[in-house]
Amino acid sequence: MRKIIIDTDIGVDDAFALRYGSLLFDLIGITTVDGNVPVDMATKNAKFFCKIYKKNIKVYKGASRPLSIKPTPPSFDIHGSDGLGQAYENPCDAKADNAVNFIIESVKRAPGEITVIAIGPLTNIAMVLNLYPDFAKEVKELIIMGGAFGTHGHTGNMSNFAEFNVFKDPNAADLVLSSSTPITIVPLDVTNEVQITADEIQKTHDDFLINISKFYLDFSIKQKGFNGMAVHDALTIAYLKNPDNFKVIKKPCRVITDGIAAGQTVIPLSAAPSSNNCFKDLTAHKICIDVNVDAVKQGLLETLTLV
Ligand code: BDR
Ligand code: CA
Repeated sequence: MRKIIIDTDIGVDDAFALRYGSLLFDLIGITTVDGNVPVDMATKNAKFFCKIYKKNIKVYKGASRPLSIKPTPPSFDIHGSDGLGQAYENPCDAKADNAVNFIIESVKRAPGEITVIAIGPLTNIAMVLNLYPDFAKEVKELIIMGGAFGTHGHTGNMSNFAEFNVFKDPNAADLVLSSSTPITIVPLDVTNEVQITADEIQKTHDDFLINISKFYLDFSIKQKGFNGMAVHDALTIAYLKNPDNFKVIKKPCRVITDGIAAGQTVIPLSAAPSSNNCFKDLTAHKICIDVNVDAVKQGLLETLTLV
């Protein structure tokens, strides 16, 4: 069974990804990062997730702030003031070993075997690459939820240009995407297309997911008048389960790190020669630009329901 590590800023859709991933793959550890919630809260939430589902999976704590920009506020408005929809009293603490060391040691111990799934800002992964550049050749694959490339009009959810995870730490994202790591990007282009309704969540009979989703669904009703939500992060697991459900292009990708487009993911739009080619010699990554919505939804809901 494929060994995975999930690197997360655990909010509501992260919990869907953790559940889906832990049912399908060998989840050998959960690492946390500042993003939807501060890293201590993410660590507590990840431990709570393991407690609820009686999973003996160790949680590791990572970066508490972006690499170099000033930290931006958490997303309590969408995920609730505890990141998990304010549905439970969380009794867990935030004590944990170091996430960056755990990722490095895991990949060193089993080169070519570990898939890392990054569903928060890329700060931890950038730190891993800085400390241990061989991560790029020793990790089996790095699957990232992040970015937006404009398909179906999906250009950003934090600004006109930027998706949340990339916006939160654009320097980390640029460092990671400029590396030779084998990367698949699962951006808003596909995650925004797969909307799960409140009824569909209810039908899973998964009380934890049902309860934590209510706050997020209320936000969606207020914002869009729609009783449903995109479970962005869970699409990384859907991709790993069945990549054929996604249309993929292969391009090098970089990130605008400041100015009005800070956090924008950019790819070369033409082959026109440039004396100042910022993509020169960079690895082409797989970028998902379209998705078989019905197949992905069915796969997710079936797996969550069949427990
Ligand atoms: C991403 O932003 C976060 O709020 C979600 O958890 C997801 O990782 C979507 O843009
Ligand atoms: Ca996330």
